[in-house]
Amino acid sequence: MKVLVTGGSGFIGNHVVNKLLAHGIDVRILDMLAPPIAREGVEFTKGSILNIDDVRTSLHRIDAAIHLAAVADVRDVFNEPHYAEEINVRGTANVLEAMRQVGRKRLVFGSTTWVYSDVVETDVDETTALLPPSHLYTATKIAGEHYCRSYSQLYGLEPTILRFGIPYGPGARPGAVIPIFVDKAVKGDPLTLQGDGMQFRKFIYVEDLAEGIVAGLKPIAINQTYNLDGQHKVSIKEIAETVQKILGDVTIEYVEARPGDFVGKDASSEKALRELSWQATTPFEEGVRRYVEWYQAQGREREESLARVDPALL
Ligand SMILES: NC(=O)c1ccc[n+]([C@@H]2O[C@H](COP(=O)([O-])OP(=O)(O)OC[C@H]3O[C@@H](n4cnc5c(N)ncnc54)[C@H](O)[C@@H]3O)[C@@H](O)[C@H]2O)c1
Repeated sequence: MKVLVTGGSGFIGNHVVNKLLAHGIDVRILDMLAPPIAREGVEFTKGSILNIDDVRTSLHRIDAAIHLAAVADVRDVFNEPHYAEEINVRGTANVLEAMRQVGRKRLVFGSTTWVYSDVVETDVDETTALLPPSHLYTATKIAGEHYCRSYSQLYGLEPTILRFGIPYGPGARPGAVIPIFVDKAVKGDPLTLQGDGMQFRKFIYVEDLAEGIVAGLKPIAINQTYNLDGQHKVSIKEIAETVQKILGDVTIEYVEARPGDFVGKDASSEKALRELSWQATTPFEEGVRRYVEWYQAQGREREESLARVDPALL
């Protein structure tokens, strides 16, 4: 079996590629950027999902596609809405259309639990009716979900929509809360909590998420939607205390709460457990520990490569 992973060089995609290989599945990556490491069993096609010829070519002899390429950081979407709309919406339409044109059916689409942001309920699952989205990122992801359903109804494509929770772990973007806390703690800066720090989020360890994405290839998942999220709510205070426990000698400071702080949604992943036999298993502390190890190894790598530079150039 061979699977195409669009966006396979990114944070989540890189872990998905590892999991596919671990399951004995060959991989082709379609991405504008090269993957962080070369691996046996992985082919890399440099290209853009905005170019339908690139997508068509990358589908050659492929059994299924996992579509992750996107502008995934909400701040990037905010700063470049038109570009984000192009990649996330037209890019997804290109993937679906290229599959239709070359007669490929099976697609796993990476969406987000943020699609629930505008609903009134706090506890949500895949049957929760979505409301019109206020954020452009969410709008692009909901559009992608609708296009998947339309291509299924009209052309017989076999999509699976997976709504990911907030991932953390090795390779995570520096601007997310766990990387920020770890970075501050390592630099000796205090960790700042708004209010009592009891605002919760659910987080999903990225290797657990990657395993869930691979489980999304199971035939039972065709034309289905699943949330893939962590099992437990984690408060901001607990994140800070976990980082403090792992790194030691870290100060936690409390400041006044900002008005209108985000109230997290609790997205159930029960359906994924029932039908895909998947659930997140990595304890939060263990996941943060693995992130810290990766972060520290990155620092060592930077120092080692600087040490190899001719001092005259520094
Ligand atoms: N990270 C999160 O918090 C999160 C949460 C929920 C859902 N998601 C979704 O998961 C998917 C992967 O997210 P991520 O965090 O790994 O993002 P990422 O930014 O790390 O990876 C995205 C990858 O897509 C590639 N890409 C961007 N535009 C492309 C184009 N035109 N053609 C080909 N490749 C292109 C990038 O080079 C990058 O390697 C996205 O669809 C994202 O919306 C992410």
